[in-house]
Amino acid sequence: MNEIEKYFDEMAGRFDDYYADRNASIFDRLVHSLLREPGMKRRFDATIELLGHVKGKHILDAGCGTGVYAIYLSRLGASVCAIDISEGMLDRTRANARAAGVELAQILRADLMQHSFGERFDCVLAIGVFDYIPPWRQPEYLERLMSLTKHSVIATMPKLFTPQTPLRKLWFVGKRAKLYLYTARRVRSLAAQAEANCRFVNCGPIWTVEFTLGTRCSPSC
Ligand SMILES: C[S@@+](CC[C@H](N)C(=O)[O-])C[C@H]1O[C@@H](n2cnc3c(N)ncnc32)[C@H](O)[C@@H]1O
Repeated sequence: MNEIEKYFDEMAGRFDDYYADRNASIFDRLVHSLLREPGMKRRFDATIELLGHVKGKHILDAGCGTGVYAIYLSRLGASVCAIDISEGMLDRTRANARAAGVELAQILRADLMQHSFGERFDCVLAIGVFDYIPPWRQPEYLERLMSLTKHSVIATMPKLFTPQTPLRKLWFVGKRAKLYLYTARRVRSLAAQAEANCRFVNCGPIWTVEFTLGTRCSPSC
């Protein structure tokens, strides 16, 4: 079991609280409202807008966590393959899908870098995944995700320069997972290495980035 898997297994029971704003202590509520909430809501709205009409589309939710995106998109008629390395997170995905009366096309416990999908998807989501990928592995992650799509990858990248950065960094001191932050230049460089175009949507402390198949980063990015 790697450190990311352990980290998310341990936090699986609390992860939905971040979306529902059900944080236990006053300290947790403060951390949530300062550090997580400003980006989580905006990245969700930005992702849904970038996806457009999803009915009948085949979507890979890579690093699906507790299934928030996978369940929402399945409800809209998409066929969603949800993959996560953490069994704890997938237990929550199954329970949440059951509670919502939604059936996901596929739920896979696997490392997205190693699993053989045998197909390409209309779109691949990687929401909240790049936060935990060390710089030397970031190019292979984006290249891998691009290889799994017919059109686009929508990924979120936490910004390096934000007022919340020192606090966010502090929050991760002593945690199993490390947090990695991005400059726009770094994101463009990753896109160029993956031969992708990229489009940024500003979501406060985060960018939601649409990477499309191509040969260079578009002027708008
Ligand atoms: C911060 S959570 C985000 C969950 C969900 N996408 C969301 O935004 O609500 C990141 C998830 O990515 C998963 N993950 C990270 N690296 C992975 C990998 N290589 N293969 C599969 N899942 C991975 C973690 O286990 C975790 O559940």
